Amino acid sequence: MINSKTKKYGIVGHPLGHSLSPIIHNHSFQELEIDAVYLPFNVTPDYIRTLTTSMKSLGVSGVNVTVPYKKEIINQLDWISEDAKLLNSVNTIKIDNGIVKGYSTDYIGFRRKFIEENIDYKNKSILLIGTGGAAAAIATGLTIIDKHENVTITGRTESKIIDLISNIDKNGGKAEKVILNSEEFLSKFSSYDIIVQITSVGMSPNIEDSVIDGKLFNKDQIAYDIVYNPLITKFLSDAQSCGAKILTGLDMLIYQAAESFKIWTGKEMSIESVRKQLSK
Ligand code: ATR
Repeated sequence: MINSKTKKYGIVGHPLGHSLSPIIHNHSFQELEIDAVYLPFNVTPDYIRTLTTSMKSLGVSGVNVTVPYKKEIINQLDWISEDAKLLNSVNTIKIDNGIVKGYSTDYIGFRRKFIEENIDYKNKSILLIGTGGAAAAIATGLTIIDKHENVTITGRTESKIIDLISNIDKNGGKAEKVILNSEEFLSKFSSYDIIVQITSVGMSPNIEDSVIDGKLFNKDQIAYDIVYNPLITKFLSDAQSCGAKILTGLDMLIYQAAESFKIWTGKEMSIESVRKQLSK
């Protein structure tokens, strides 16, 4: 039963669209018998400037922040975690005794899949496809937080690859550049151990689309797509057809949620139970 003691959490974004986060968190609150609720908040740009003040006045204990506010929200925080500072992105806010704290769990969620699957990602060559916000977080996480030295960034717009790499450079990391689907790209493709798809290509309803020719994969590679709708994208099904191992975006989504959940409640959510709930 919801009453005056029930803690309030939610997700803030615009437009919010269909989000799985309320299902993941509410299911976990119920399962662990935590008196809390998680709601979607579609906050328009006019109102985002006062988000943390509104959270305080309405007694909201924490929120996830998603597109397009992960950077914009930073100036409202009293404290920011080291990771979030490095990534210049916040996806989790917690109000802790009146102090507004910001964290980023996106990269931790991304990386946890490697750890759970015993993939020695630190010693593998990694190709990242994409140059947007999500790609920047993963690229920065790998090269700056984990100091990975074998990362290549590709995309269709050269200037965006250069901007991303120069930003990594400024922070003491390094990454290679290759233009998506160029001759150089095609000749080097088989040398990458892990290929991560970080664009919106292939997302429903465009489920027949993929950023690369599906025949490029080989059985020794690992394909990881951050798109989770559909669960198995064309990029992943192509990789699977070539015998490659696949990692889904849904796992990344659940793991980043699990990290936020731990920040708010101090408890581990049951990944298996969440997976089961989402497949219903
Ligand atoms: P987000 O911040 O969520 O990552 P974004 O900033 O829109 O989203 O970035 C999307 C990424 O997908 C970009 O790298 C984009 O490339 P461009 O900046 O060159 O447009 C990439 N992208 C989108 N559609 C693409 C396509 N059809 N082929 C290749 N890359 C594509």
